[in-house]
Amino acid sequence: MDDQLWAMVDRYLGASLGDSDEVLEAVLTTSLEEGLPLIQVPPMLGKFLHILARLMGARRILEIGALGGYSAIWLGRALPEGGQLLSLELEERHAEIARANVARAGLSGVVEVRVGAALETLPLLAEELGAGSFDLTFIDADKQNNAAYFEWALRLTRPGGAVVVDNVVRGGRVADEASKDTSVQGTRRLFDVMGAKPDVVAAALQTVGTKGYDGFAIALVPSTGSP
Ligand SMILES: C[S@@+](CC[C@H](N)C(=O)[O-])C[C@H]1O[C@@H](n2cnc3c(N)ncnc32)[C@H](O)[C@@H]1O
Repeated sequence: MDDQLWAMVDRYLGASLGDSDEVLEAVLTTSLEEGLPLIQVPPMLGKFLHILARLMGARRILEIGALGGYSAIWLGRALPEGGQLLSLELEERHAEIARANVARAGLSGVVEVRVGAALETLPLLAEELGAGSFDLTFIDADKQNNAAYFEWALRLTRPGGAVVVDNVVRGGRVADEASKDTSVQGTRRLFDVMGAKPDVVAAALQTVGTKGYDGFAIALVPSTGSP
């Protein structure tokens, strides 16, 4: 394992391909000044999500876990005119900072941040909007509830849409079935659920970079019927 090498390559790739700008830098600076934990997606994953949303022609995106709005800005920028991103966030303070950052990015009319525990707001959302309302769902909140979030995402994302879950490798600890880490256990429950649904096509990729060794999973929502 060579964290320094990963970080160096990440910086090189970012400089070569462009993975930031003044607005995104300001989001990171504000988040730091406001004392938010620096647990937003790495720039290249933000850019990857942006590309994915554009490839899919996504018009409606659901995010679970807003923090300071960094990933919401990457994703919000991928939306066409009239597109919408709804981000669910537990902490009022995080939501306020996210809204301010989203405004700085000129996306206030595109990104809405709703406050509450996602397991409480998701059923309300299902009632309000109905099943299959989103093209893409990005899960990036408390890892203990990943399996339940995934079940809700399958319901709320349209057939043929995609669900992405971040931080599923956790420095490799995900492979340790004896781990007492509740985030590892939550992620393992996610894979149990994901793997047990015969109609769900899912993959997970390990990643390295400035933020160390982790990974994300992506699942295709079944085109016919409920999984
Ligand atoms: C990893 S951060 C999200 C980072 C963000 N997606 C980004 O990349 O910019 C996780 C966020 O989930 C929020 N969170 C934790 N538990 C939650 C819950 N039960 N419901 C909704 N949000 C929750 C945390 O407050 C935190 O802001």
